[in-house]
Amino acid sequence: MSEDRASWQIKDEEALDELIQLMGLRSEDGAILQALAPTAAAYGPTLTKTFYDRLFAHPQTAEYLQGMDMQRLHGMVQEWFMGMFQGGYDREYARRRLYIGEVHVKVGLPVRYPLAMIDVVMSFGDQIAQASDQPAAALQAFQKVLTLDIAIFNQAYEDNQLRHLAELVGGERLARRLLTGT
Ligand code: HEM
Repeated sequence: MSEDRASWQIKDEEALDELIQLMGLRSEDGAILQALAPTAAAYGPTLTKTFYDRLFAHPQTAEYLQGMDMQRLHGMVQEWFMGMFQGGYDREYARRRLYIGEVHVKVGLPVRYPLAMIDVVMSFGDQIAQASDQPAAALQAFQKVLTLDIAIFNQAYEDNQLRHLAELVGGERLARRLLTGT
């Protein structure tokens, strides 16, 4: 069995601080993105159209959207997207992003689908960064903030699995050790 790891002690939204540090996300990155917020807002409707066209074109993902209020979902995904251009990324931000991940856990959506949709989001980030007076720095900042989201989204899935396994085996430490497969 492997040894305990310090990372096992980092819980929920605390992981945001850790990731910001790990990735070297600076306040200048937030400022560059904030300056792009009006451009991002203008792209919002095209982004969600591209996003949902892709999900509806694939039977396994379309199934999750049957009977959903699509106007509401377009609005919520645009709001999520605009969150990346708010300039500051604090605990409340992390909590909200974790919650969004949890919503997807609860509908039984395999994590590969949201991760695959980053392809669409990244291509819009690319285009929006071109509108900056520092396009290379803007793209790098966008990549960092989007990567934070990917990590947090994944964490919602992992937290859920770990919580259930820990309940089953009687403790998180044992659950983590079992998941190492050794
Ligand atoms: C980058 C990937 C994705 C992002 C950023 C995203 C974002 C969101 C947001 C912000 C909400 C609203 C959460 C809330 O209630 O506050 C939501 C709900 C939802 N999403 Fe996603 N989503 C993603 C991928 C997907 C995929 C691949 C599917 C599957 C087809 C999907 C299906 C749904 C469904 C069914 C809901 C509504 C759940 C409910 O209200 O019960 N999402 N999504």
